Amino acid sequence: MRGPLPIVQGMTTRTEGTEGTDSVARTGAGDTRGIVVTGGGTGIGRATARAFAAGGNRVLVVGRTRATLDVTAEGYPGIQGLVADVTAPDAPDLIVRTALSVLGRVDVLVNNAAAMGYRPLAALDRAEAERQLHTNLLAPVLLTRAALEPLAERSGTVVNIGSSGALGLRSWPDNGLYGAAKAGLDFLTRTWAVELAPRGIRVVGVAPGVTDIGAGHGPDGGDPAYRDFLKGIAARTPSGRVGRPEEMAWWIVQLTRPEAVYANGTVVPVDGGLSLT
Ligand SMILES: NC(=O)c1ccc[n+]([C@@H]2O[C@H](COP(=O)([O-])OP(=O)(O)OC[C@H]3O[C@@H](n4cnc5c(N)ncnc54)[C@H](OP(=O)(O)O)[C@@H]3O)[C@@H](O)[C@H]2O)c1
Repeated sequence: MRGPLPIVQGMTTRTEGTEGTDSVARTGAGDTRGIVVTGGGTGIGRATARAFAAGGNRVLVVGRTRATLDVTAEGYPGIQGLVADVTAPDAPDLIVRTALSVLGRVDVLVNNAAAMGYRPLAALDRAEAERQLHTNLLAPVLLTRAALEPLAERSGTVVNIGSSGALGLRSWPDNGLYGAAKAGLDFLTRTWAVELAPRGIRVVGVAPGVTDIGAGHGPDGGDPAYRDFLKGIAARTPSGRVGRPEEMAWWIVQLTRPEAVYANGTVVPVDGGLSLT
């Protein structure tokens, strides 16, 4: 990657010296880790970035919208934002270079950014197909590849965010390409776990069920169609409700803890049991 770094939001990061033993106990990682979360400006990515930061880690959140990245970082001095489109040709190098510049290291990469959009096959044009495949599958591939050396230096962890709707032998009418990309990502999680183990890199996945991400789905976080959709899913879910972003974040963080190192290639469904019905 050539040229100067883009301006990263002016959030103050904590330094190693200010973390203290309390944060060591909280992270369980022994020191302040560097975390990269794509799609960290909203929803599950925002909750994940904040959960890592609350544990005393430093976090780089990546997304295309400066305003939402700023909101994620509000009140969390350990979070910095990078405005970038993960599908841009220079994005993988840019993200890794920025992470090394502002975090100093990459212990965890959370491939969370995603492009959604229900389309039956008959209505799927090339542009939409490329958007979904690029964002949901190719971007994580190229970013993870770009981050291999820094991750290996830290014996790091890659967390791929899949979807419980794409687990196992399920089908997903009208959302096939999204589901195929997520199923592909799960396959990569298993494959990379084996392939990257000799480098000391661990690869795991979380497959969220339907999660109420509120903002962006109406002025009050509750446009009627989205609310109806959530109600319908809640009624079909053994746990009786949809998920919360913080609940997904908790699992993502736990899977990166030292105590979790024996989990490798694992994709954890967190969906209130919906995928079992
Ligand atoms: N919510 C659910 O019900 C649910 C269920 C199963 C799985 N998931 C998965 O959970 C993850 C998080 O989704 P979410 O529910 O939190 O939805 P979300 O709020 O829409 O989050 C997606 C994020 O990705 C970012 N993004 C999209 N395209 C991008 C691009 N080209 N470059 C950079 N950033 C991009 C978006 O920010 P910008 O638009 O600002 O770039 C946004 O912050 C996704 O992988 C999703 O597939 C969600």
